[in-house]
Amino acid sequence: MLKVDNLVVRYGAVEALKGVSLEVPDNSVVAVLGSNGAGKSTLLRAISGTHRLHRGRIEQGSISYRAAGQNAADEQNDQNAGLIRIDKLDPAKTVGRGIVQSPEGRRIFGRLTVDENLRAGGMNSSATKSARTETRERVFTLFPILAQRRGQRASLLSGGEQQMLAMGRALMASPSLLLLDEPSLGLAPQIVEQIGEIVLEINGMGTSVLLVEQNASMALRVAQHAHVLEVGKVSLSGPADELAKTDQVRDLYLGHGAEEISGSAAVGRSQHLTRWTG
Ligand SMILES: Nc1ncnc2c1ncn2[C@@H]1O[C@H](COP(=O)(O)OP(=O)(O)O)[C@@H](O)[C@H]1O
Ligand SMILES: [Mg+2]
Repeated sequence: MLKVDNLVVRYGAVEALKGVSLEVPDNSVVAVLGSNGAGKSTLLRAISGTHRLHRGRIEQGSISYRAAGQNAADEQNDQNAGLIRIDKLDPAKTVGRGIVQSPEGRRIFGRLTVDENLRAGGMNSSATKSARTETRERVFTLFPILAQRRGQRASLLSGGEQQMLAMGRALMASPSLLLLDEPSLGLAPQIVEQIGEIVLEINGMGTSVLLVEQNASMALRVAQHAHVLEVGKVSLSGPADELAKTDQVRDLYLGHGAEEISGSAAVGRSQHLTRWTG
């Protein structure tokens, strides 16, 4: 599980995160919703250790992690058992711990082929060649289109295919926690649906996902738990189906998707929501 506690991150004079706390339990999908500038990317960067590349600095708080299965015996007695501080690790070490980010804007190598992009994703892994081949086959099972296009330059792929490649590349490092930064950005609704399904499949294979999105309707459909981030602070947290029913989320993020979500969500009072003040 991942535990972010009272995290404060600054870029020079800009305080991008003002004391953010959240958890990603083992084998779960957790969504963070927020509009532009809310601090979503900053949160993922701090977790992956890449904030320094953007001149960001963690000023307060901590990020701790324990991969699923580690210290399972202690876990029953103490929730915090085996949690290791990761906020001072460099990005390569964070990947080594099983946390891999698929960054904002996809960042694939346009001039390289699909295969070469995937290989780049597995490069830092200590896995044997046969294990890497196995991982790539799993990625191709998840994204058959990438198998079909494996020899093609990545720049020739459609937006949706490039997003799949970015996710596939991240999966090549066999993460236990995948950080996804706005995978739906700029994609047609049908493709967004597909990305949502794939997130569920990835989770089904035993990888936890921290999904950062402006597309609340997709994110709340695939996540069990969600948080709303507003100008560097978590303003609302709760089970995804409960959050989908709140006025705040409906007004700000759902638009036309609102009906559909509340229709599929469980009926009941919103008793599990936590509202932060101040
Ligand atoms: N490299 C940077 N240098 C200075 N300010 C930044 C940098 N990156 C992000 N910010 C600022 O930090 C805040 C949060 O940004 P970001 O995390 O990118 O939000 P989001 O991903 O939710 O759109 C914004 O005010 C943004 O302008
Ligand atoms: Mg962002």
